Amino acid sequence: MSMFRALPLAAFLAAGSAGAALAAEADKNGLGARPGLGLPITDAEIKAWDITVLPDGTNLPPGSGTAAAGAKVYVEKGCNACHGDGAKGGANPALISDAPIQKGDIFSNKTIKNFWANSTTIFDYIRRAMPWQSPRTLTDAEVYALTAYILAGNKLIEENAVMDAKTLPLVKMPNRDNFILRFPERI
Ligand code: HEC
Repeated sequence: MSMFRALPLAAFLAAGSAGAALAAEADKNGLGARPGLGLPITDAEIKAWDITVLPDGTNLPPGSGTAAAGAKVYVEKGCNACHGDGAKGGANPALISDAPIQKGDIFSNKTIKNFWANSTTIFDYIRRAMPWQSPRTLTDAEVYALTAYILAGNKLIEENAVMDAKTLPLVKMPNRDNFILRFPERI
């Protein structure tokens, strides 16, 4: 029994002296008394993950796209496998649909057209989350094009409108003014 007790203690002491050695090493590197694990994160590394687009379009990147280009990307990237031909729905939700929200039915089908408050969210969502099996693989131009494809298909922009950082935030979603803000003064 005492053997089993002694072993972890020895291991602990060994780890302790290894820790002291690491701390000394860290001191040499100017990292103070910390273990010196890891590296300071760089601005470029933060930028790669700092992709949130705000409702008013803040943080939209350069680039642009049209519905025609988006229709091609939609098929090339396999969006149709899940969202169906013409984005009319398949195993996963329709992205282009005229289905209305059924008033009073909390389970009513909420679509991009009948529910989403901001056009800029379409860009943000696709860029960060789609395609489902390989998110963050689309270029910004492809995401603009897919956004234009969805907006034009839902008849919220002209068929040949160009979506970019300036034009996309100007697209008003039909349901935008129907949200009840609990703290409007904080916006
Ligand atoms: C492997 C299946 C799959 C593929 C491929 C895929 N998606 Fe999706 N998509 C989903 C699923 C599942 C959801 C719902 C996720 C959720 O609600 O959490 C979704 C949701 C979405 C939504 C939000 C819809 C809504 O009404 O909430 C958009 C927009 C979207 N996908 C766009 C795309 C685009 C554009 C592509 C191609 C680049 C793509 N998806 C490829 C599975 C897929």
